[in-house]
Amino acid sequence: MIERLQKYLAEAGVASRRKSEEFIFSGRVSVNGDVVSEPGFKVDSEKDIVEFDGKRVFAEKEHIYIAFHKPEGCVTTVKDQFGRKTVLDYFGDIDRRIYPVGRLDYDTSGLIIMTDDGELTYALTHPKHNIDKVYIAKVDKIPAKEKIAEFEKGLIIDGYKTKTAPAKLTVVKKYKNSASLEIVIHEGRNRQVRKMCGAIGCNVLKLKRIAVGNIELGNIKKGEYRFLSEQEILYLKNGI
Ligand code: URA
Repeated sequence: MIERLQKYLAEAGVASRRKSEEFIFSGRVSVNGDVVSEPGFKVDSEKDIVEFDGKRVFAEKEHIYIAFHKPEGCVTTVKDQFGRKTVLDYFGDIDRRIYPVGRLDYDTSGLIIMTDDGELTYALTHPKHNIDKVYIAKVDKIPAKEKIAEFEKGLIIDGYKTKTAPAKLTVVKKYKNSASLEIVIHEGRNRQVRKMCGAIGCNVLKLKRIAVGNIELGNIKKGEYRFLSEQEILYLKNGI
């Protein structure tokens, strides 16, 4: 992570950012052995050695951001009143309080972002946030063209007066009595994809989320995860 020296010092608990600037001006801070007296100086927190009064200081680790392939059969809450498996059961090796960004149903698999960054979680799950989510739904019928048009324009679900926002539905594969659909929505109503499919007469047999905005599930195996790249983190943060 590249950041300004005073921010690094503040995160390392040396002093506030303002006070850290003063320390930098007064020549008490060095980077890789050289005194740096310019506060805007950029350091790479993963590589550079930062010293204050001759002692190495370490910035608190940044937040962590993870792409997780949620399997079916677990809940995306942190605790479950029925004692079912939760997404956190897959992170025994991570010593942080992370939580899922948004939700997937118990019987839905696919991509869910996990983080300890509460600010980002709040922003990304806020209804005004328009990030596209892409799903593959296996349904028990091949939807007719007019039904696809209705789906894409917006439907009444749950008896709400407002229709769902415009969405995209592409038939990816047709089978004899079923189909695979790619569905893109940006709202996050409860069981929205299942209900929207139901509203055009299709039952969802299987549902998997394959992308959240630019973040893709790719080849992460079920129950496994990867850390997001710096670029992916910036992408999420810039969108909020
Ligand atoms: N829509 C659904 O119906 N279920 C999910 O898990 C996510 C979106």
